[in-house]
Amino acid sequence: MHKTVTGFSKLSKSEKIDWIVTTYFPNHKNAEHILKQYWNNNEKLQLLHDEFIENTISNFYLPFGVAPNFLINGKTYTIPMTIEESSVVAAASKAAKFWFDRGGFKAEVISTTKIGQVHFTYDGNAEDLIPFFNQIKPLFFEDTSAITKSMNKRGGGILDIELKNKTETLNNYFQFHATFETMDAMGANFINSCLEQFATTLKREADVSLNGNLSIIMSILSNYVPDCLVRAEVSCKVEDLTENPDISAEAFAEKFLQAVKIAEIEPYRAVTHNKGIMNGIDAVVLATGNDFRAVEAGIHAYASKTGKYTSLTHAEVNNGIFKFWIEIPLALGTVGGLTSLHPLVKLALEMLGKPSARELMQIVAVTGLAQNFAALRSLTTTGIQEGHMKMHLMNILNQFEATPEEKEKLIAHFKTNTVTHSAVVEAIKSIR
Ligand code: MEV
Repeated sequence: MHKTVTGFSKLSKSEKIDWIVTTYFPNHKNAEHILKQYWNNNEKLQLLHDEFIENTISNFYLPFGVAPNFLINGKTYTIPMTIEESSVVAAASKAAKFWFDRGGFKAEVISTTKIGQVHFTYDGNAEDLIPFFNQIKPLFFEDTSAITKSMNKRGGGILDIELKNKTETLNNYFQFHATFETMDAMGANFINSCLEQFATTLKREADVSLNGNLSIIMSILSNYVPDCLVRAEVSCKVEDLTENPDISAEAFAEKFLQAVKIAEIEPYRAVTHNKGIMNGIDAVVLATGNDFRAVEAGIHAYASKTGKYTSLTHAEVNNGIFKFWIEIPLALGTVGGLTSLHPLVKLALEMLGKPSARELMQIVAVTGLAQNFAALRSLTTTGIQEGHMKMHLMNILNQFEATPEEKEKLIAHFKTNTVTHSAVVEAIKSIR
């Protein structure tokens, strides 16, 4: 089948769908309906979403849920979460409530510096670059003054620019390593604009002052932000740690600590452990219109900063006090980007009390910690499947379009029977 097309982006949305349907679904009458059923009747809202990206043909819905009762630094939040995985919001809510009754979460921002680099090659004498760089350094600030003006007013801007000689690792390779403070903006556009201007200035000055050939390779921010750090923790007396009559508080604390230790030393476990943390983090990052890929990339890099991938959370018991904490890098924004464009994102931020980026960093870190607490508590006691399968049951029932009466019957049935996909299908068949 001929599946390439030219000028696709110039077609109207309906024409694009026609092409998709005739090319990929010639015998599937429903394809057009499936795509169009997600169109929003509110044309203005639909157009807004259409224009977020190129070649939009439909909307992809994800549930927008909330986890209430998060007490963070003495303030109560209801946290918006966008996620498809069935048990995540329930787990976050449970952990929030548990810690609400034990003093809540404490969170602090440790640092907020972001990083960007101009990568370039120079085939002349490396020694010449140092005085050249020192001489022209003020020009980088001058030439970016139009870009930095409003950021400077808000208290941010370019912090520093360093020249780095990387020729030991790659022939002729040098870089500018620049640091930025971007206040309430995630800062990607700001940083990239500054970097591209640095590159233009560098090339212009190099062409007149240097003997060798300087070539700009690229200018881009780094999503590795180990100096944009936030820490969140919970603590309580060991004796207050469990409401579960099947396990003593001491035994639970011991198992919990052991589970964290395993994630600290065993990368296979650490990846899953951290994935559970990201369940919470991504959900809030997405609901608040932030870039979850940037956050994922930066956090996993941070998890391997020692050269070995390890747990993002840690736990200890000292003098009868259980303490559990997380430290992660987070580059987030509460202004700019989707935050003022997407109505649901705006609502999510309003629900959080229009937080600053620093406050949002704390909220996100807390959600990750809560999620990890909930996962480890299940894993070390009942096992994870009990909760998962309850939520999974609803998904299967919906898949089979169970009526409210059928749902009621089957939920009652599976209170005492193990949920498996085939058991649910059998049970549906037997009552129909
Ligand atoms: C599932 O999405 C997340 C967990 O696997 C996390 C963990 O194992 O800690 C339950």
